[in-house]
Amino acid sequence: MKVIVVGKGGREHALVTALAESESSPEVYCYPGSDAIFETAKQLPGEVSDVDSLVQAMLHEGIDFCVGGEESWLAKGLADRAREKGIPTWGPVKESAQLEASKEFAKEFMFRHNIPTGSYEVANDYESAMSAIKKYPTVLKFDGLAAGKGVAICSNESEAESFLKEVYIDGRFGDGRVLIEEFLEGPEVSVIAAVSDGEYQIFTPARDYKRLGDGDEGLNTGGMGAVASRVLIDKDLLSLIDREVIKASVDGLISDDMDFRGFLYAGLMLTEDGPKLLEYNCRFGDPEAQAVLPLVGGDFSSYLFEAASGSLQQDLISFDESWSICLVLASAGYPNSSRNDDVIRGLDSVEGVRVYHAGTKKNESGEYVTNGGRVLAVVGRGDDRESAVRNSYNEASKVSFDGDQRRSDIGQMHFE
Ligand code: AMP
Ligand code: GLY
Repeated sequence: MKVIVVGKGGREHALVTALAESESSPEVYCYPGSDAIFETAKQLPGEVSDVDSLVQAMLHEGIDFCVGGEESWLAKGLADRAREKGIPTWGPVKESAQLEASKEFAKEFMFRHNIPTGSYEVANDYESAMSAIKKYPTVLKFDGLAAGKGVAICSNESEAESFLKEVYIDGRFGDGRVLIEEFLEGPEVSVIAAVSDGEYQIFTPARDYKRLGDGDEGLNTGGMGAVASRVLIDKDLLSLIDREVIKASVDGLISDDMDFRGFLYAGLMLTEDGPKLLEYNCRFGDPEAQAVLPLVGGDFSSYLFEAASGSLQQDLISFDESWSICLVLASAGYPNSSRNDDVIRGLDSVEGVRVYHAGTKKNESGEYVTNGGRVLAVVGRGDDRESAVRNSYNEASKVSFDGDQRRSDIGQMHFE
């Protein structure tokens, strides 16, 4: 069985690793991949410039199925094109990928299916956005894919003005409207389900730490770490989320006639009034994948192949009971900028943890160097949260590069 993962970051490194470790030992490919990913997966031969040429290259190589890691390819119709050519694809078709690509589309879906979420308004221009803000803090979201940069939590008028100026006047994210959302408070949790034509299975719940600094201070990032465990949230809360959010969403997809085979990610805020859905993603989370996938046992590759072909066979995989902590090491300047070419030290000295590469490459001497904002994820496990935290922090302390940034409270904050 030949499987290809589409993407190049830490999540894709984790997906490629989990597929390669599957009981059925598939031949794993990746596109576009990275130097670190190519230690486990093969590079897809052929010239690729767009979705069609990517699918052609897959056909040429005899790829049996495709796993969409990055949302941008799914939003461009990767699953539609690959499925047309007979390649089962894990990841939704373009229309359903709108759940992630358009925040307005997602909010309309949530309201149509009575899924708990905050109230919102949509604005076409600067003036109507400003007048839609009723109180502070307020949440402003650009309605489109913005690599996690399109959301601003504004505590006063001048912060709102400066975000809206970036959107409407500077055109930072291109054309698009802005959603003005009710500000919600509480710890967040990411619940990711494998969904195949109306059937679903919930994976190990995780929590992503999005702010740059300890204590959730500082700028929003793509995620500075994550914690995952079957008991991250209690059983009753998980059943409530299952019923009101996951099942309601899967049923909603069916009643709206929206084809969906792939991971459906629910980003939730656990408010005093119960869980509320902040967003959908139509793929695994990053860095949640790096925390969750090491806990998956069995035949993950056959599981995704069957599910991509329309049959969710839950017994093909199992979930480990332990805790997993993922620590992200980011480069100097992140998230406003990033610094490349800093040599990464200590990679050979870590033991008993996994190291996934998000933004690295090999230099001419064959050393790994930084190549992006989020550079590495060090993932340790333990029978309880404390030992998982100890394990990952001890091992991560052996890895460094000039200017590296990391949080010291991953897996600890929100548990006191
Ligand atoms: P999103 O891309 O919609 O998930 O937003 C990114 C992050 O912004 C979320 O993970 C939250 O930390 C924060 N956020 C989004 N929506 C809200 C909201 N309505 N209230 C408070 N924080 C929010
Ligand atoms: N961890 C958040 C995301 O993948 O969008």
